[in-house]
Amino acid sequence: MSKKSPFKKVNEFRNKQWVYTKRPEKLVDQRHYTLEENVISISDVKLGKALLKSVYFSIDPYMRIQQSKHNTWEEPYPLNTVQGGAVVAQIVAINDNSSSLKKGDWVLSYTGWQEYAITEISSLRLLDPIDVSVTTALGVLGMPARIAYFGLLEAGLPKKGETIVVSGASGAVGQIVVQIAKIKGCKVIGIAGSDEKTKFLKKTIGVDEVINYKNHSSAKEMSQELKRVSPEGIDIYYDNVGGYITDAVFEHININARIVICGQISQYSGGLDTPEMGPRFLHKILYKRATITGVLARDYNNRMEELLLEMTPWVQNGLIQYQETIIQGFEKLPEALNMLFLGKNKGKLIVKI
Ligand SMILES: NC(=O)c1ccc[n+]([C@@H]2O[C@H](COP(=O)([O-])OP(=O)(O)OC[C@H]3O[C@@H](n4cnc5c(N)ncnc54)[C@H](OP(=O)(O)O)[C@@H]3O)[C@@H](O)[C@H]2O)c1
Repeated sequence: MSKKSPFKKVNEFRNKQWVYTKRPEKLVDQRHYTLEENVISISDVKLGKALLKSVYFSIDPYMRIQQSKHNTWEEPYPLNTVQGGAVVAQIVAINDNSSSLKKGDWVLSYTGWQEYAITEISSLRLLDPIDVSVTTALGVLGMPARIAYFGLLEAGLPKKGETIVVSGASGAVGQIVVQIAKIKGCKVIGIAGSDEKTKFLKKTIGVDEVINYKNHSSAKEMSQELKRVSPEGIDIYYDNVGGYITDAVFEHININARIVICGQISQYSGGLDTPEMGPRFLHKILYKRATITGVLARDYNNRMEELLLEMTPWVQNGLIQYQETIIQGFEKLPEALNMLFLGKNKGKLIVKI
């Protein structure tokens, strides 16, 4: 590469990357990342690999979980590496004549917060932009859908007429859970953090009862509200947030209740390193012969085809609706991650270049 005009060659690309450089103690933001730059060349695309141009970045709460000091499902995310994450990208170059993928195809990759990336062709999922919007591969037909669908159906075991409470109901996972629960004939109670969000849940997607948890800011108040909206008790609790909301739900579980622990976002910004103690409620599990099951999307990776077969028509014909909050600008990525913890997203949070 010539020093004078480093980016003029058509086979070279200036590549910006967000590198995770500092472990956050509480909320994560721009201070924990450094913007770096390098050059990627088409000649670096070895056999079996493809060069991708990133377009849509998925912003997910697990990114913050992995920044806690302690091991979770794997070791803490290493400092001084490009922030990992799912990306919807377009193929710029591909080095394998036998591949069914070609230049220009939209794909789902896990290449993280960088403008360009070289990756294994075998790791890519081809997306059809005619079928549904390619962004759905990050949300309503992606990882959040996987944990919503399998977590609810296989751990929640919903039955017609049962009452389910979903916390974090207005988020990427929560919006899908409440709608599948409706399809299965449940009475659905959605908990979210603003009147705008609860209104959307009730008016647009038909959730039966909604609670804005910010109007009920202790376990006692939340418990009273839950009693008001579900005097019959709770058969399933799909938990995305933890904390006092979850403490309150335990007061109202029915015999043989299923509690599905999908996420604990109220604890991520520091609470995983210094746990907040809540009431000791395991005796209620005993009396009610209830179960608590932790669910992880990665355990269902190999069942994506099954999910897409059932859920793609649901999305195409509007049986499942979805919201996306799309933030413009690669430079906004760390700030966007912070938005999840401030409740600034509605539905799936995505950054677009
Ligand atoms: N187990 C798995 O494999 C798996 C996979 C994906 C996601 N998850 C978990 O599922 C949960 C939702 O993930 P998502 O991707 O769908 O994110 P999301 O719900 O789209 O976004 C996060 C939402 O969490 C709510 N929130 C933030 N801080 C909160 C707090 N202190 N108390 C109550 N609510 C709070 C905010 O909504 P409000 O305005 O309503 O507060 C925010 O919009 C997370 O806990 C995540 O870790 C688990």
